[in-house]
Amino acid sequence: MSTSHSVALNFEDGVTRFIGCRPGETVADAAYAARVNIPLDCRDGACGTCKSLCESGSYDGGDYIDEALTDDEAAAGYCLPCQMTPESDLVLRIPATSASARTAPAEHTAKLASIERYSATTVGITLDVDDREAFAFLPGQYVNIAVPGTDQARSYSFTSVPEQERLSFLVKITPGGAMSGYLTERARPGDRITFTGPLGSFFLRPRTRPTLMLAGGTGLAPLLSMLERVVRAPSDSPMHLLYGVTTDEDLVLLDTLRDYEATLPGFTFDHCVADPASTALNKGYVTGLMDAGTLNDGDCDVYLCGPPPMVEAVRTHLHGLGVTPASFHYEKFAPAVSADREKAAA
Ligand code: FES
Repeated sequence: MSTSHSVALNFEDGVTRFIGCRPGETVADAAYAARVNIPLDCRDGACGTCKSLCESGSYDGGDYIDEALTDDEAAAGYCLPCQMTPESDLVLRIPATSASARTAPAEHTAKLASIERYSATTVGITLDVDDREAFAFLPGQYVNIAVPGTDQARSYSFTSVPEQERLSFLVKITPGGAMSGYLTERARPGDRITFTGPLGSFFLRPRTRPTLMLAGGTGLAPLLSMLERVVRAPSDSPMHLLYGVTTDEDLVLLDTLRDYEATLPGFTFDHCVADPASTALNKGYVTGLMDAGTLNDGDCDVYLCGPPPMVEAVRTHLHGLGVTPASFHYEKFAPAVSADREKAAA
């Protein structure tokens, strides 16, 4: 029986809107019905104005002419939302900003459900979002959470997956930080929280080759979400995670990673600590654990989330090894500085 499908429209600025698409309905019709004005002109498969990239899912491409979409483009995953009808849930990269589509990240309200201190420097929080039924995101994405009692917001990636009722996040505790001050001094379960999102183009793509995940500090969060998604959609491709932190106190959730290693076929991980005084086996940075073998000689998808110097160090290291991964997705974050993030996928 045909059912509606969820279509994630991921805009150039990272804003993602989810729409429901009924059987036989084109993505463009569903988007406009939801008041999301994706780029359109002819609506007839002739001009190519709506051409977008399908990141995940299957669909019927509909009727169109070669001038709008060539066979090569279609083979590379490009599609025409004015003609296509989904055959599964889809993720589309829309070549426009959310503002030009007259949409914006949605604001949500939630209740703080729990605060768990994992270490002196790292806290886990969970939220019960009020409109849980309507709220969707992609594993790897983040939201901007308003810090209660202040006019500031901070961005945090989900550690949970959409299938889990509660949203969960990792927070780095930084002396003087707005969210750190709230969580360590004032926060109580039941507090009202507002956030906007989901945001970001750092999300797990369909897995067709080995995956190398690189986490710097609380950059572990989105990779945990991706891992949890893989638990629900296993594949034969191996996954390896390298988790690097600054000090032993920053090292959290190793038991969780060991559980994944024991239960998720093909998953392995290693960790390292930069502090020379660390008790960890590997001292130094994740690049010290990366060689051509770890990268499967380039036949791998790399997902990296960490602070800007880590992203640059990994890029330089890849260049030095002479290895170009099949795909390289990264997200840079500057902990406790601002809600600004830079995301990229290549
Ligand atoms: Fe012209 Fe889709 S709007 S091809």
